[in-house]
Amino acid sequence: MHVLRRRGWEIPERLATPEHLFFNRRAVLGGGVAAAAGLLLPSPAPAQRVADLPDPTKDLYPLKRNEKYTLDRPITDEKLNASYNNFYEFGSSKLIAKQAQALKLRPWVIKIDGLVEKPREIGIDDLIKRMPLEERLYRHRCVEAWSMAIPWSGFPLAELVKFAEPLSGAKYLRMESFLDSAVASGQRQTWYPWPYVEGLTLAEATNELAFLAIGAYGHPMPKQHGAPLRLAVPWKYGFKHIKSITRFTFTDQRPKGFWEALQPAEYGFWANVNPEVPHPRWSQATEQLIGLDERRPTLLFNGYAEYVAHLYKGLEGERLWA
Ligand code: MTE
Repeated sequence: MHVLRRRGWEIPERLATPEHLFFNRRAVLGGGVAAAAGLLLPSPAPAQRVADLPDPTKDLYPLKRNEKYTLDRPITDEKLNASYNNFYEFGSSKLIAKQAQALKLRPWVIKIDGLVEKPREIGIDDLIKRMPLEERLYRHRCVEAWSMAIPWSGFPLAELVKFAEPLSGAKYLRMESFLDSAVASGQRQTWYPWPYVEGLTLAEATNELAFLAIGAYGHPMPKQHGAPLRLAVPWKYGFKHIKSITRFTFTDQRPKGFWEALQPAEYGFWANVNPEVPHPRWSQATEQLIGLDERRPTLLFNGYAEYVAHLYKGLEGERLWA
């Protein structure tokens, strides 16, 4: 194979250095140069400076929509969607959008470890460059019995699994959100089992529907939706859709999710949508379509049975629906 090699000094620093080291070096150099010059001006903390860099993904949009995934309802109004969120790191109400703006999105290093050929760390922008990007329209059904319909931008989780090169003993994928109680006031509430964790079987993770979203509504993901990387598994209740992911661990142990750790009687590993199995405290038979004056019957697997029902054959003894 012919590879065009440029000499080191011809390559911009951004290309020569892995992204996460590049951002860290910028932060260090920023402080170092000022100190060397003897400047006594107050300067922002390094973390603040790098967070102010422009989002390098913004020119990727709009992404081409994959027309295979269609909706049976209108797309939820973007403003409503961006102001009605569950993100316990920033508080337990739905109105956390303002607080979530404290989250710094660069540098954002993703760790891939556990049962893989080679554990590694990769910056979010280096990862995105390697992934096939597209837009998909997905339904979203929260365990609280409300729903939305969202245009996500991102790439199939199966592509990340391929990139990670799991070993044959890997049966599950455990995902972890960021941990930083200095910016996330909810993480100072120590009775929650931080960091937020969720898991899938490898068969679920490589199902064509499992999607890692980096954007929504044709632009980079708003922080309150779980920027810069969040899971969308539309046949499962919303709590499986882990936000602001920093770590993917391949394992032979079934991961215990945040909500399962907190309230095992109410929330389990599988969390597939089934209108016939009520939550211990309320019915799951119908859902409120957010933004519309409408309640609709909820569908088995949230309407995605043709894609995923086969994954659960032979698992009738499991608690598949909580
Ligand atoms: N991920 C993290 N890290 N923290 C959370 O509190 N809440 C979950 C899920 N992912 C949550 C999370 C729940 S309960 C739901 S319904 C969805 O995010 C909400 O996603 P949305 O705010 O984009 O609608």
